[in-house]
Amino acid sequence: MVFDNVFVIDHPLVCHKLAILRMKDTSTSRFRALLREMSMLMAYELTRDLRTTEVALETPLAPAKGRMLEGKKVVLVSVLRAGNGMLDGVLELIPSARVGHIGLYRDPKTLEPVEYYFKMPGEMRDRDVLVMDPMLATGNSAAAAVTRVKQTRPRSIKYMCLLAAPEGIRAFHAEHPEVPIYTPAIDERLNDHGYIVPGLGDAGDRIYGTK
Ligand code: URA
Repeated sequence: MVFDNVFVIDHPLVCHKLAILRMKDTSTSRFRALLREMSMLMAYELTRDLRTTEVALETPLAPAKGRMLEGKKVVLVSVLRAGNGMLDGVLELIPSARVGHIGLYRDPKTLEPVEYYFKMPGEMRDRDVLVMDPMLATGNSAAAAVTRVKQTRPRSIKYMCLLAAPEGIRAFHAEHPEVPIYTPAIDERLNDHGYIVPGLGDAGDRIYGTK
């Protein structure tokens, strides 16, 4: 399946770690560690086009020139609670990033998102935002989260997840066609409960051991 504006990060290390994440017997601690590692590897790809500026510096031997990140700090937005499982890995790679949180829960009957928390850094204008949530399932929460982030008028938004369902990609891009999606894999479908198949189960439960 090929979708416009969807980037499948299928680096061998990412694929290997994803396979272990999917396994039903992978422990909570291993799941958390792998998710963190994968998020870091994905962030490396996602940040490829960040702007840099030339700086003058001194090595122990001579003056030299280097390139450093330019402009305002990147903002990482975690969609609670599973997004927090990706946050730490990305923060390890971009320690100066600012962090926002969005709390949404899925109404079990309608599968529609309901917002209960929204906190962003100040001065979002001119900032690049990475929104993260492991499972792009129905796409409803993802689209709602990005709609809220757009209201803060950042310079750019990218969406990163761990698994995407075709239904979720279509629903998300119906509302936000210009927002690129980065995922290691696109799975077959959603089941009747809105879970990704084959997927990996409930990401939040697997990260926090709540099942
Ligand atoms: N949320 C999850 O945690 N898993 C799914 O498969 C779908 C939504």
